[in-house]
Amino acid sequence: MIKLGDKMLVNFNEMLQNAKKGKYAVPHFNINDLEWTKYILEECQNENTPVILGVSEGAAKYMGGFNTIAGMVKGLIQDLGITIPVCLHVDHGTSFETCKKAIDAGFTSVMIDASKLPLEENVKTTKEVVEYAHSRGVSVEAEVGHIGGTEDNITSTETNATLEECEVIYQQTGIDALAPALGSVHGFYKGEPNLDFDRMKKINEMLPIPLVLHGGSGIPDDKIAMAIQCGTSKINVNTEIQDAWSKAVREFLQNDDKAIDPRKIIGSGEKAIKEKVREKIELFQKTK
Ligand code: 13P
Repeated sequence: MIKLGDKMLVNFNEMLQNAKKGKYAVPHFNINDLEWTKYILEECQNENTPVILGVSEGAAKYMGGFNTIAGMVKGLIQDLGITIPVCLHVDHGTSFETCKKAIDAGFTSVMIDASKLPLEENVKTTKEVVEYAHSRGVSVEAEVGHIGGTEDNITSTETNATLEECEVIYQQTGIDALAPALGSVHGFYKGEPNLDFDRMKKINEMLPIPLVLHGGSGIPDDKIAMAIQCGTSKINVNTEIQDAWSKAVREFLQNDDKAIDPRKIIGSGEKAIKEKVREKIELFQKTK
């Protein structure tokens, strides 16, 4: 745990181990700016639930960089009196350098996503990140197979993870959580999501670490419940929050073509973000 004055940011280990034992999932919400971060923190505090704030490389660049974000999150925790456990996590870090930069800036968790590389190289990069991260109390998530769809304007095709790949990456790197690609995609689904629950269950029985479900937007409630039953302890959501926020802001602007105050424009999506965050928290805790 990394202390920040009298409040703290934590890695995800304790929150995810508790979730795995208790058969519920901790929400990972992607953040895009100050307002999103504030609304998400306030709503999670309201619901008294731990939260993982996910920052993609694109979002980090947009907001100025990892130092800016770490400072912003620490400041919000202090100024808003947030007392729930908060984990600040890099989402889909593509290199050791990215993860190192984030850790040096004060992030308490990283995802190294070297899943586009052959398994051997994925293992090598992930191991390097684990060594750097663990010696600083930072947790590490890795990916095998490849999660498809569109994120940060990058579109890729999915490949499902095999049991062997999961076993190899876990045994050879010492990661804290694993995101095996099993049919979920980033962004909106074309048709019904087709998740391989059988394999998810087998991976969960084989490995002691929590599993992560990416592409949490647009998965029907019963499939979310099933994923949690099959060992998923962290569920990532971005698109549904973007969708809810943008609809609210669009409506606000259509009804007030004189609005110029950015606080009013961005803030017109506050209620929509908070409602969506609450809905996901309740859904992920249903089995608790
Ligand atoms: P969605 O955008 O589909 O919710 O996925 C988010 C995600 O998996 C971030 O890593």
